[in-house]
Amino acid sequence: MPNKTVKIAPSILSADFLNLGKDIEMLNKSNADLIHFDVMDGQFVPNISFGFPLIEAIAKIAQKPIDVHLMIEKPEQYINRFVECGANYISVHFEGNHHLNRTLSLIKNLDAKAGIVFNPQTKVAFVSDLLPFCDFILLMSVNPGYGGQKFIPQTIKKVSDLRQMIDKINPSVEIEVDGGISLDNAALLTNAGANILVAGNSVFASEDPLTTIDKLSGKY
Ligand code: DX5
Ligand code: ZN
Repeated sequence: MPNKTVKIAPSILSADFLNLGKDIEMLNKSNADLIHFDVMDGQFVPNISFGFPLIEAIAKIAQKPIDVHLMIEKPEQYINRFVECGANYISVHFEGNHHLNRTLSLIKNLDAKAGIVFNPQTKVAFVSDLLPFCDFILLMSVNPGYGGQKFIPQTIKKVSDLRQMIDKINPSVEIEVDGGISLDNAALLTNAGANILVAGNSVFASEDPLTTIDKLSGKY
């Protein structure tokens, strides 16, 4: 039985940067549910992507909620500015962030949805005390920093363990998965309990992105 609540979040990192307006029009027409932005500072991850001006420009024409994944040092210093740029969902990494609880409150007080991201090597058991304070958990299924990497299959078991924990503690928390998601693993993830799938390469390198988005969601 396909999961009716699954949401697809195409990742702008894999879009055509010379024709971003066209790609956003395509996403507006599509059944995508969110638009995912990977912000990288060259410190927290070994890559630099984009920042405020690009998100702000796209948010003005996007007809879908803006999902900002922060792979940066000291994310708490920039939350206000990302919300001003149009972010509706903001996630910060568990790794290296010493005052997560405070950062989650900051995001929620600005009326955005607050998420915590876990790298592939981080144990999800650490999240139990934070579940009452967040709206979603993002599990990385590749090492963060680049699009187009190979999916780490152990993520599927991690999703089902996390789903069980969430069902006991705060069932409204959503599970987002990010990295290497394709038609080969999307259904495995949603059956395990994931309900937001980020997809970069599999959408933007596809001959028919609209159909790929539909197939990834399993709804159509
Ligand atoms: C990786 C990013 C991902 C990336 C996913 O650090 O967090 O969001 O854009 O791209 P694909 O789907 O190509 O692995
Ligand atoms: Zn991401």
